[in-house]
Amino acid sequence: MSKNNKSRRHFIAGAAATTGLVAASSFIPSRFAIGAMAPIKVGILLPYSGTYAMLGNSITNAMKMRIEQAGGRMGGRPIDYVAVDSEMSVPKAPQNTNKLIQKEKVDFLVGPVHSGIAAAMAKIMGQRKTPIMIVPNAGSNAVTGPLCAPNIFRTSFSNWQPAYPGGVLMGKEGHKTCVTISWKYGAGIQMMAAGRDGFATTGGKSVKDILLPFPNVEFQAHLSEIAALKPDCVFAFFSGGGATKFLKDYEAAGLKDKIPLYGPGFLTEGVEKAAGSAADGIKTTLHYASNLDNQANHKFRADYEAAFGASANVFSVQGYDTGSLLLQAAAAVGGDVEATADVINVMETSKVPDSPRGPWAMSKAHNPIQNIYLRQVADGQQKLLGIAAEALEDPAAGCKMA
Ligand code: BEZ
Repeated sequence: MSKNNKSRRHFIAGAAATTGLVAASSFIPSRFAIGAMAPIKVGILLPYSGTYAMLGNSITNAMKMRIEQAGGRMGGRPIDYVAVDSEMSVPKAPQNTNKLIQKEKVDFLVGPVHSGIAAAMAKIMGQRKTPIMIVPNAGSNAVTGPLCAPNIFRTSFSNWQPAYPGGVLMGKEGHKTCVTISWKYGAGIQMMAAGRDGFATTGGKSVKDILLPFPNVEFQAHLSEIAALKPDCVFAFFSGGGATKFLKDYEAAGLKDKIPLYGPGFLTEGVEKAAGSAADGIKTTLHYASNLDNQANHKFRADYEAAFGASANVFSVQGYDTGSLLLQAAAAVGGDVEATADVINVMETSKVPDSPRGPWAMSKAHNPIQNIYLRQVADGQQKLLGIAAEALEDPAAGCKMA
């Protein structure tokens, strides 16, 4: 909430309470009519530098595009964006979060990309009733698990959701052993565990789990180890710049044609062109595929390309849907976004029927219930092969709201 708006609301509430006669007269505009003039403040905490910069930019671009397409207002009110580069720094997360909440007094807090930062933010948000946080990427299972809270929503995925079906896929394709490899932090650890669990349902087993410090991209020694271990397949989670480097190194090490590579779709998402032949043919599971044949996706991709001269990806879909959720909620409360309980109520029951990923609904733990698609990279694009898991809901273990 902006300072201006807060004082306006205070004044109006006071006037209404103490001067019933005046409040009833037609001279005094309604609380909303006055509040409508004050901007809604949207704080953004995303990475604009480092290995996840592409993710942060894709989310921001698409969220703003969605809101611009609706006239650049939410519930009739103008918007002030305040964006902070998370620098993917977990130690700086509390300070960055508190700056947006206490100094900037944002009505909504959109972020982050990184699971470790998400957990740090959720601990702060769980102690407060406002603002409302919308996670447009970070998959930390805890955020919609033990750390779930009424004012925390996610428009993306939990780490379990795209990874578990990826493990099942490896078994279905006839593999019995794998090596898992990722970065050693929340997302990597949780996606590895979910992939192993999915693989185990088919009788598959991981023979080695390799974790690198985040965002280290020195893969050579680990690739030599994988070559020596000779597993049937490899399950990997990397994303952004780190994913491009991993794919290229995997191909350069001569492993691509010998040991099939799988993973949650972040491994190839948004890096298809940068990775070139190193990504070609790789099958992954994710809640989006670029050639999903629905009208919303066709329009979204064309608009995004026209606006930014780049192809849309899952991160921009998540940003776009964050914009849709904000618009939906602000419209439903007639712009009175300070009525937090009402906004939460709308978001809890929201369905997003016009998402480029296909329709999805909010779970009781505030996480999308959504299809997970099986995709394969061909000609620098993610091609849909089928649905790996239909309307998949995160188990939300430990969430007291679920
Ligand atoms: C995460 O840290 O949660 C994350 C980062 C990039 C892609 C997917 C998940």
